[in-house]
Amino acid sequence: MERTQVQGGNYQGIRRHLRHRMPAVSTKPGVHELLVNAAQSIENSGRITIRTGEEGERVWVEIEDTGHGIKPEHLSRIFDPFFTTKPIGKGTGLGLSLSYGIVQKHDGRIEVKSDVGKGTVFKVLLPKRAASGSGKS
Ligand SMILES: Nc1ncnc2c1ncn2[C@@H]1O[C@H](COP(=O)(O)OP(=O)(O)OP(=O)(O)O)[C@@H](O)[C@H]1O
Ligand SMILES: [Mg+2]
Repeated sequence: MERTQVQGGNYQGIRRHLRHRMPAVSTKPGVHELLVNAAQSIENSGRITIRTGEEGERVWVEIEDTGHGIKPEHLSRIFDPFFTTKPIGKGTGLGLSLSYGIVQKHDGRIEVKSDVGKGTVFKVLLPKRAASGSGKS
């Protein structure tokens, strides 16, 4: 397992790391939305941790934040198009539905665990054949 901790919004560092670990996965826009959400969930200072790994026939990437978390009653709705808890004009609520669609298309899945006030972990699992497919990185 590889782990990267990114302090101070070093987004280039994150992208480099993902490219290095998951060269051909064409799900970058999906992962991008998770990173944006993670960053937006942190009010002042916090930590985003990215882990990547493989198990059996799958590769995975996990994005963990120490942000405000997701209320349990929202968890079943976050992938719905236009579901947002952000103020009007801030979020369209399309980010996660985009991620979900892309990952589904690659026969993958997204898992989420969240604790209000503590943070959230999103894990994207993809079959290796998707990872070696047509993706541009
Ligand atoms: N890492 C996270 N921490 C806390 N809440 C999250 C996180 N990721 C998603 N959410 C919740 O899920 C909702 C839906 O996320 P989604 O990315 O689809 O839309 P959005 O971020 O609100 O708007 P957009 O992505 O269009 O700018 C968010 O409004 C937020 O309530
Ligand atoms: Mg979003």
